[in-house]
Amino acid sequence: MRTQIGIIGGGPSGLCLARLLSLSGIKSVILERQTRDYVEARIRAGILEQGMVDLMRRAKVSDRLDKEGLVHDGIVLAFDGREERVDMASLTGGKRVTVYGQTELTKDLYDAVLEDENVTVIFSAGDVELSGYLEGSPKLSYTKDGKRSTVECDYIAGCDGYHGASRASVPRGMIREFERVYPFGWLGLLADTPPVHEELIYANHERGFALCSQRSHTRSRYYVQVGLDEKIEDWSDDRFWDEIRARLPAHIAERMVTGPSLEKSIAPLRSFVAEPLRFGTLFLVGDAGHIVPPTGAKGLNLAASDMYYLSTALIAYYNEGRSDLLDRYSEVALRRVWAAVRFSWWFTSITHKFGGDPIERKIQIAELDYLMSSTAGKTTIAENYVGLPFDPSFK
Ligand code: FAD
Ligand code: DHB
Repeated sequence: MRTQIGIIGGGPSGLCLARLLSLSGIKSVILERQTRDYVEARIRAGILEQGMVDLMRRAKVSDRLDKEGLVHDGIVLAFDGREERVDMASLTGGKRVTVYGQTELTKDLYDAVLEDENVTVIFSAGDVELSGYLEGSPKLSYTKDGKRSTVECDYIAGCDGYHGASRASVPRGMIREFERVYPFGWLGLLADTPPVHEELIYANHERGFALCSQRSHTRSRYYVQVGLDEKIEDWSDDRFWDEIRARLPAHIAERMVTGPSLEKSIAPLRSFVAEPLRFGTLFLVGDAGHIVPPTGAKGLNLAASDMYYLSTALIAYYNEGRSDLLDRYSEVALRRVWAAVRFSWWFTSITHKFGGDPIERKIQIAELDYLMSSTAGKTTIAENYVGLPFDPSFK
């Protein structure tokens, strides 16, 4: 088979990229290791920056997002018995975020992509291997139903997440990887209960970090920081509800509606960046190239800027014969990546319990106290949380 863009991975990055390219007449083949049901069921991100919403609109897949997404103007920080609201909209000249689950966004993208004549999706594609991308003859091979097949293409987009085949295929001497693994994870619970508060609450507590999020007016998503040695089997729903209530201000904990979990899982926290993001005709996009701890809700939103830059660069190449934007992709994408890596690391550092040393928490509380007493402090949180702009010179 031959196509223009060979895409590895049918998560949000691969699907949205394929759709953006298709609308400019560019053909792609997506190789996805799992089934559609499996990909759609993975509970992950829930907060979309305006940049990601705009991209879904540009990809013409935003009907349901525009109807069902919940627009939030602010977040609440709870610490030391206080609750402080950061009014993001007023601090950023009207910028907001939208609550819309990655599960829903992925469904919307699959609905569009599977009807799209420019996009072919091959599910259950095993043992994907990349070759020729450094020599200008990129190829993907994969196994499906016991048969090995090949896709020849002009460019490869590695959209296959942190554990994918694309980054792993790069010769070690050509790539530099920066990584920090945090000494804790997040235990998340999804339940069909009304959210405890209309906005998200990020809580710094002496027992550890807690987050109250949501998917709709009737579905809540909650997280608590847990040790890396914790096992999901040891966390009954009751234990989870007791723990999160213990980490919240009493009057909020009292009004929390509990119920059976629809899903419960533990995710490790990591900061990771690969440099560069381009190797000959292979480009890394989204989690394949970088990971942030989830505290700033940036993972999916960083994938959005990669998709925007790479689709813009490929469209300029095919429609105008220009390769200057392809040459700038890695540098421009990495600049926004590092900004989000910094914010996610910093927001994690002021909200989580790192060790037992009492001075650590005193310093965190002093920093939160200062940030909340200062318009500059609140603005720095607001600007980063709503999302830093995409580079306007990239066109
Ligand atoms: P992925 O969503 O990882 O998609 C990659 C796709 O590639 C998958 O469908 C996978 O099956 C496929 N694939 C992998 N390897 C291969 C292969 N060898 N061959 C073919 N296909 C392959 N972000 C937030 O903002 N908030 C959160 O709360 C949050 N929670 C998260 C929880 C977890 C457990 C994880 C892993 C991530 C979380 N994230 C969160 C991050 C966010 O979900 C990701 O940034 C987002 O999914 C990135 O999209 P992606 O398409 O780049 O990668
Ligand atoms: C969610 C996840 C986050 O990492 C975050 O910072 C906010 C919300 C969520 O899953 O809803």
